[in-house]
Amino acid sequence: METLERLNIDIERVANSRLEGVDFDNLKFGHVKSDHMFIAQYRNGQWTNISIKPYDYLQLSPACIGMHYGQMIFEGLKAFRLEDGRIGIFRPEANMRRLQRSAERLAMEPVPADIFMEGLQALLEVDKSWVPHGEEQSLYIRPFQFGDEPNIGVKASETYSFIIFTCPVGKYYDKPVNVFVEDTYIRAARGGVGEAKAAGNYAPTLLPARKIKEKGYDQILWSQRVDDTLYAGEIGTMNFFVQIGDKLITPELDGTILPGVTRDSIIQLAKDEGIEVEERMISVKEIFKAAETGQLKDAFGAGTAAVITYIAGLGYHDRHYDLPPISERKLSTFFKQKLNNIRLGKEADVHNWMTYV
Ligand code: COI
Repeated sequence: METLERLNIDIERVANSRLEGVDFDNLKFGHVKSDHMFIAQYRNGQWTNISIKPYDYLQLSPACIGMHYGQMIFEGLKAFRLEDGRIGIFRPEANMRRLQRSAERLAMEPVPADIFMEGLQALLEVDKSWVPHGEEQSLYIRPFQFGDEPNIGVKASETYSFIIFTCPVGKYYDKPVNVFVEDTYIRAARGGVGEAKAAGNYAPTLLPARKIKEKGYDQILWSQRVDDTLYAGEIGTMNFFVQIGDKLITPELDGTILPGVTRDSIIQLAKDEGIEVEERMISVKEIFKAAETGQLKDAFGAGTAAVITYIAGLGYHDRHYDLPPISERKLSTFFKQKLNNIRLGKEADVHNWMTYV
């Protein structure tokens, strides 16, 4: 067993790597896991048992608080293989800070910055051969944390596990998506946990997702009603952007949507280009009116897993609008290309978004 100096990370490597058996031409999102995982545990008021181990099942108490009362949060970020052979991670500090904010909202002990950052670096160092080489491929990184105290009283756990594992991935969506505005079920309300990346925000979306699939739609655009007006929120796996006329508009961070790292990057890239960008409440009525008058030029989702995903059409009740053909989507195509170039080191990283392994 080796030991990494600063954090004293114990590293136990696999006897035989599974890498050889992976079909990199047919990667289904999240199916293949790399050889190792990073683990840190919060015990008796301090982070301890910091290690990298072969990826494997966990041993947990059936009474573990996270599983009963949802003290469970996660993150998603990606590492890329650059043309010069280096491996770059896109904005890991932003994900680390968001994990800490999610922890605070769910009364969990936040993972210290050095455990997140050094653990991530060490894990990628050990599993660097798992970062795929193919176009539109990357290593998806899934850090997560949960309360693991074996106690079914409703209270904040006094012990936690923080784990990072990784998956070589290709595209999350393999075609533009049809999106349906949901106004029966809601994902989040002001004062709730919509802005936290809490595991519990996802299960309630599965039944509504099944229902809209039956109508022929791929994804839900969540909405909220304020003073009798229905406003657009997020898509659940990604933040929502529209281009109306020359303006790029995205719902503001009002506590009901996830403060996406890709969302933030797009807003910055738009500002760099002098594109007018508005973060504000945008009503479903305004979006559909723009569609009717030909002003809705583009609509897309943005997220770590989804990157930039074109929206093919938008539905609401019994109305449906097809958006302009992808060949006319100047803004989303520009952001997609620009992000890709920065991540692969083909363009200057002027905002210092990349961290190299
Ligand atoms: C991500 O984009 O990383 C996400 O977490 C979205 C989804 C896969 C849950």
